[in-house]
Amino acid sequence: MGRIAYVNGRYVRHAEACVHIEDRGYQLADAVYEVWAVFDGKLADAEGHFERLGRSLSELKIAEPMSRRALEVVLRETLRRNGVREGTVYVQVSRGVAPRDHAFPKSPVPPAVVVTAKALDRVASEAKVAKGMAVVTVPENRWGRCDIKTVGLLPNALARQVAAESGAGEAWFVDDIGLVTEGAASNAWILDADGVLRTRDTNANILRGITRLTLMDVIRQCGIPLSEKPFTPDEAKAAKEAFITGAGALVTPIVSIDGVPIGDGRPGPVATRLRSLYIERARATAV
Ligand code: PDD
Repeated sequence: MGRIAYVNGRYVRHAEACVHIEDRGYQLADAVYEVWAVFDGKLADAEGHFERLGRSLSELKIAEPMSRRALEVVLRETLRRNGVREGTVYVQVSRGVAPRDHAFPKSPVPPAVVVTAKALDRVASEAKVAKGMAVVTVPENRWGRCDIKTVGLLPNALARQVAAESGAGEAWFVDDIGLVTEGAASNAWILDADGVLRTRDTNANILRGITRLTLMDVIRQCGIPLSEKPFTPDEAKAAKEAFITGAGALVTPIVSIDGVPIGDGRPGPVATRLRSLYIERARATAV
């Protein structure tokens, strides 16, 4: 089955899907996006991602391109046309097409919408996750509104490239007070030396991860102590376990940070259990 993308009201062959050269997303990163994990053809943590998309659009004063109901139809139709039962679905909304000018167009233009779907081989990804992932730390150099899920991802892309060149799967940003903020495309977690699960609080300049939020609920149900007390790379290196969360990573155990093995250098039992519990919950509540 050939890949199909949704572009501004039409379903087109992926290879031929394109946006205008004066799309403000392309020229100015004036666009937001959202990613849902897909289980059994259904959207995981659906509500949280829709809500965050609405918030990202409203923070940038980009008009809602269509109703929530209509967007859901497009997401599902894109999944169906691509035959994706397991994977992710991506939506990007830009302010639209207008002659290049930094300020918003004087007469509003319709927002531009792109939706794509990606299939994932869950068996293969579980085998990969079982080996664990390495992380490298990089200085935080992003703008001050990382709570908005914009496509302005150049620092994230460069950080991921640093990781890739070091044979790692993710980069963790470290801010100017020496604390880990989050990953290039995930939230960062440790199980500290005292057995407390820790992740950065959302008053910091991070994305309010939807997977992070659902996992917090899972953790509370498990009765594991949970804290939003930030941590340094050194604390992370001395932690019992580390892991990341996100719609792509779900819950992925980290086995080394800057080359220092975490625990015994293998995926930790808590992270591994949380991954299964998260997937179980996401699958059961997907809509
Ligand atoms: N990224 N932090 C950043 C910078 C992210 O880009 C993401 C997700 C997360 C985790 O958020 P959530 O749990 O809501 O997916 C945290 C997506 C998956 C991406 O860019 O592809």
